[in-house]
Amino acid sequence: MDDQQVHKGLVGVVADTTTISTIDPQGNSLTYRGYRVEELTEHRDFEDVVHLLWYGELPTAGEYDAFVARIRGYYGLDPAVDAWLRTVPVDAHPMDIVRTAVSIFGVHDPRHSALDRDVTLEQATRLLAQIPAVIAAHQRRRKGETTVPANRELGLAANFFHMYFGEVPHPDIVRAFETSLILYAEHSFNASTFTARVVTSTLSDLYSAITAAVGALKGPLHGGANEAVMHMLSQLSDREAARRWVDNALARGERIMGFGHRVYKNGDSRVPTMERALRAVAAQRDPGPLLECYEAVQEVVYERKKLRPNLDYPAGLAYHLMGFDTEIFTPIFVMARLSGWVAHVLEQRAANALIRPLAAYTGPSPRPVPLERR
Ligand code: COA
Repeated sequence: MDDQQVHKGLVGVVADTTTISTIDPQGNSLTYRGYRVEELTEHRDFEDVVHLLWYGELPTAGEYDAFVARIRGYYGLDPAVDAWLRTVPVDAHPMDIVRTAVSIFGVHDPRHSALDRDVTLEQATRLLAQIPAVIAAHQRRRKGETTVPANRELGLAANFFHMYFGEVPHPDIVRAFETSLILYAEHSFNASTFTARVVTSTLSDLYSAITAAVGALKGPLHGGANEAVMHMLSQLSDREAARRWVDNALARGERIMGFGHRVYKNGDSRVPTMERALRAVAAQRDPGPLLECYEAVQEVVYERKKLRPNLDYPAGLAYHLMGFDTEIFTPIFVMARLSGWVAHVLEQRAANALIRPLAAYTGPSPRPVPLERR
């Protein structure tokens, strides 16, 4: 085993081929099935992008209408999940709620372990419609408010605002949210997507793969970073305080959440688009000193570490200004990334090989078992 090269964290390992998306760190671009993601945010909505990821092409007008009708047909919160939600502690973390809810959807689906492509797409369509309803219902219970039923006239982005706040905000805010969903939708073999592919590679079902992926996304080195960004920004009062805070955190050897990326080393290509969306939200909602602190943190992290922000940095502040509670940021990421996970589940299954790496053993040499307990 001595000659085995260890790729800790699988850094630099190409684990499989994919036709879903590609990140070009040099060209600073991300494309979904060949389309630049920035262009998709300008000209398409989230439902178009989900169709692109799941079916391989943007929908025609007829396909779009049919797809949207299928999603909206699943809008009302499932009664079994609704009943379960009423039993959970109101202070349960929304990511734990989403993870468990996905599993419960599987428990109540008689075809839960079907691997058929059409059945999987139907299950995925239902999850796409239901996860926002779960997040909104739990959030309203946390606040002691009654749930707001879905509105089938609204798309996924606007309907989420409707169920969460009981109203749909200015179109610029809905558009900014839609932009974030499109940017978060897919990102190649990131940790949660790879988790979904590992589970799928054992020929396990969609619900198991998505439940595991939600668990992987929760961690602060992955999706949890958008929440951590807001916890940081909310402690800062002005530019000077922001600079001091970063200096102290770096002196303690801490990581600044929302900065750095495993693949992008010269900046995350999604950030400029999300920053424009953030500024559109800030124009509608008073950001107070937050924008100033946001800029100061960015400046000092670059000065000290030459690190640039990733998507979680502008998205975290944008979600805060939209009015969402910080604990909801990563569940919103789930709403979006479900689309990418499903595309990868289907792709993995279509040309499956069990994902099972090796390990270089560094434990004790072989030794006899003592005959008695000492
Ligand atoms: N803050 C401070 N230092 C950071 C950093 C950050 N956010 N991200 C990386 N670094 C530093 C590391 O400490 C390390 O420094 P060293 O070589 O002096 O030890 C160096 O940069 C390389 O870090 P490494 O962990 O090897 O890079 P990676 O590619 O494995 O890490 C992340 C990628 C995303 C895990 C990492 O950048 C990070 O932890 N970011 C914060 C969490 C985050 O925003 N996650 C969302 C990602 S989209």
